[in-house]
Amino acid sequence: LLWTLALMVAAYLIGSLSFAVIVSRLMGLDDPRAYGSGNPGATNVLRSGNKKAAALTLLFDALKGLVPVALVGAFGDRLGLGPDATDNAAALVGLAAFLGHLWPVFFGFKGGKGVATAAGVLLGFHPLLGLITLLLWLLVAYTTRYSSLAALIAAGLAPLIQVIGWDPSLATLALAVMSALLIARHRANIDKLLRGQESRIGQKAAPTP
Ligand code: G3P
Repeated sequence: LLWTLALMVAAYLIGSLSFAVIVSRLMGLDDPRAYGSGNPGATNVLRSGNKKAAALTLLFDALKGLVPVALVGAFGDRLGLGPDATDNAAALVGLAAFLGHLWPVFFGFKGGKGVATAAGVLLGFHPLLGLITLLLWLLVAYTTRYSSLAALIAAGLAPLIQVIGWDPSLATLALAVMSALLIARHRANIDKLLRGQESRIGQKAAPTP
């Protein structure tokens, strides 16, 4: 338990690295919290028109979820954890990284919506579950061009896929909490989708005056 708690704190700190802000700063771009949806995430960085910055944001925000979870999965037995305890610890560590992204200690607790990080967590936790979820996201994103709708559908279905495919456990619960928080973070997007005002992938942000 102590190990799990220590790893969760470490994962929370890693999750708190808001790569949308960090990458934009390093590349000399505007702060993503100041344009478009104001969300520090890859979708919004893409609205700056800089695809490389958006891709790097997506990659690093995903890695900060994937790496801690995969490490716990790989070394759980060395920490004296059995297979079930390893699974639970990996999911809790993933949830901690996700919480860091949503409420980053380094950025005044104002973080993003967690889509890339959640994808990384799922891929690290169970590659097949992660891939199915990713494919769902791609399918909806490709057909509708709405990043938020794709995330909402993928996040809504991920826990169901997990419950159907695997035994319900503490890990399932942790990943379901992650999905619920992700969906709750998309309230403004849901509003815009319902009003037909959500911007589509690749649509640039109105230039800041
Ligand atoms: O990655 C978050 C996405 O689902 C929505 O982002 O900037 O359109 O609110 P945004």
